Amino acid sequence: METKVFTTTEISAAAKLLNEGQLVAFPTETVYGLGADATNVDAVKQVYLAKGRPSDNPLIVHVADVETVERFAQPLSEAAKKLIKAFWPGPLTMIFKLKPGALAPEVTGGLETAAFRNPDNAATIDLIRTAQTPIVGPSANTSGKPSPTTAQHVLHDLKGKIAGILDDGATEVGVESTVLDLSTDQPAILRPGAVTAEAIEAVIGMPVQTELHHVGATEVPKAPGMKYKHYAPNAQVYIVDRTEDWPQALKWAAEQKLQIGVMATDQILSVNQLPANCERFSLGSDIQSASRELFAGLRHFDTETEIKDILCQSFENKGLGVAYMNRLNKSAGQTHFSV
Ligand code: TXA
Ligand code: MG
Repeated sequence: METKVFTTTEISAAAKLLNEGQLVAFPTETVYGLGADATNVDAVKQVYLAKGRPSDNPLIVHVADVETVERFAQPLSEAAKKLIKAFWPGPLTMIFKLKPGALAPEVTGGLETAAFRNPDNAATIDLIRTAQTPIVGPSANTSGKPSPTTAQHVLHDLKGKIAGILDDGATEVGVESTVLDLSTDQPAILRPGAVTAEAIEAVIGMPVQTELHHVGATEVPKAPGMKYKHYAPNAQVYIVDRTEDWPQALKWAAEQKLQIGVMATDQILSVNQLPANCERFSLGSDIQSASRELFAGLRHFDTETEIKDILCQSFENKGLGVAYMNRLNKSAGQTHFSV
């Protein structure tokens, strides 16, 4: 199949493919999603096939307005309404109880709830409005690989398997949305993202459970997606915990026979001399740029076949750093460089 690349001026052609039941990848402020008409079961099934995604892992329904959520979900709580007002459009996905049978089990993974999100990307909102249907959208990567933050990443994984992609350049946030479960008594963050627990608590005035995304192997994961291997490049990633560990880490790198990938901020890269066998990938200057560039860096070194090991900088586990460290820990399989 030919994968057509659409610019943001070709929305109606992309919407036509969605209405025909085809798959079209779309940009959001977080990562690119793999879009299909959420009300077309056959189209939704194709999403799992194209990604190689386990079929019990439910999808996020992307909407252009709150009215669409109200069509499918049970009446929204006051907390939900406040959060929608504060954070939509934006990187906050919320899980609501559904009206019975409102969405196909292929969308919900057979659950009585579904995840909804109003992405902050004008072209994609236009696409949903033009297609006149909400679209499901897991991240548009092969299952298990880092999420795509450019159209080129999507093409690398899915070219020939999907009908089209709407290209709107690199995404802003770089890590996927916060997933907040509002279907139970206490709101719980199932996946950390750019909308932090503190920001949510400030809006709803009640505590948010954050323990669920630290699921151990023996527990039953609340978000089905949490139990699968994630964000894993071909190379082994080592997390470098502290600024003062870098000289040792680079000394170790210099002793290796093969090329080593180094992902760090400009500050780290400028004060440490890189050995000749190291290749750098800048994470910019702060946690915002590091989150934006993390998946691109992991993917960059995947294309360099010589590179089997990557050293990657740690960030403080607060604010956006919680989301960054969650993704980095998964991609490294919790492996740290130890001095
Ligand atoms: O930023 C994002 O959220 C991106 C862009 C494309 O919108 N999408 C994304 O989708 O990351 P995906 O499918 O890769 O991740 C959705 C996560 C999965 O971990 C899934 O298990 C969880 O949300 N999820 C979806 N519906 C759920 C539900 N009803 N109950 C619990 N977890 C759910
Ligand atoms: Mg994903």
